[in-house]
Amino acid sequence: MLVLGIESSCDETGIALYDSEQGLLAHALYSQIELHALYGGVVPELASRDHIRRLIPLIQSTLKEAKRQISELDGIAYTAGPGLIGALLTGASVARSLAFALKIPAVGVHHMEGHLLAPMLESEQPQFPFICLLVSGGHSMIIRVDGIGRYKLLGDTLDDAAGEAFDKTAKLLDLGYPGGPKVSQLALSGRAERYKFPRPMVDRPGLDMSFSGLKTYTLNTWQQALKEDQATEQTKADICRAFEMAVADTLTIKCKRALEQEGLNRLVVSGGVSANREIREKLHALMNKRHGEVFFPRLEFCTDNGAMIAYAGTQRLLAGEEQDLNFAATPRWSL
Ligand code: KG4
Ligand code: ZN
Repeated sequence: MLVLGIESSCDETGIALYDSEQGLLAHALYSQIELHALYGGVVPELASRDHIRRLIPLIQSTLKEAKRQISELDGIAYTAGPGLIGALLTGASVARSLAFALKIPAVGVHHMEGHLLAPMLESEQPQFPFICLLVSGGHSMIIRVDGIGRYKLLGDTLDDAAGEAFDKTAKLLDLGYPGGPKVSQLALSGRAERYKFPRPMVDRPGLDMSFSGLKTYTLNTWQQALKEDQATEQTKADICRAFEMAVADTLTIKCKRALEQEGLNRLVVSGGVSANREIREKLHALMNKRHGEVFFPRLEFCTDNGAMIAYAGTQRLLAGEEQDLNFAATPRWSL
């Protein structure tokens, strides 16, 4: 089965071709980062307009790269939500129109299911069941995964998502957009011993998380530095380091707790924040110590991409899932 995947939920246009026998054949990504950087965050209307410009040429170039014709497609998978409604509708409209014209099925995929299954695009795939830590710009979830579509939410964030906390921290320190990679880059020259940030909610039972307090802690620390005439690049780097270590420790403690609670020793980490070096190292160390297994997507598939949507859609189509033509996009949608 040859499936075209389309991702357009936010500020990246992602296209991919996935074959159920041969795996990923080709993929392409157009990032709108430069377009939105000027405004310090994603401008929804600009995002939708740019997706419209990019979608068709990217589909054409991806088919060409895979040396396939559009008539060979067996199905189309697109991100149906959650995300920005205008952006989602561009991908949904292209997907549904193409499917209608080609007389093939189109399936709307949950964006977070795409992220959750992204490690399946690698040659070494995790076996079910496993614990998944899903950390992106909009979500921070700990999920027990027993199979495709068999997801049990064990823990969630009570306020900001982990990626959102990175983005807000970057904004506070005037590091630009998107925040995660900028904070992470600056943290490399930060000194670990200068500041110690709290590890939110780790002394309370359960698997829920909270990251908004860390953002406030960053703000207070930076304001104090300003008062003391210490508002230097080194101070920013030290704050980034302390912030990143606090997030990484908190996520590690919660993952360990989830594995113990569920009696599992296999961890999958995905979503944009799973690209973070410190978080990857700490979770590798945790799983080494436990003699367990940990799986991450390759870096380019941590953040938004079409390949994960093509993969998730292929699994749904193979399972015989059908959606009626009215199903288009759902900006708010729980997994
Ligand atoms: O999964 P994703 O591309 O989009 C959503 O579904 O939200 O995640 C984007 C988020 C942003 O908040 C971004 O700052 C964060 O992932 N991110 C990172 C890193 N790379 C991206 N956070 C920490 N460290 C990184 N290296
Ligand atoms: Zn995403």
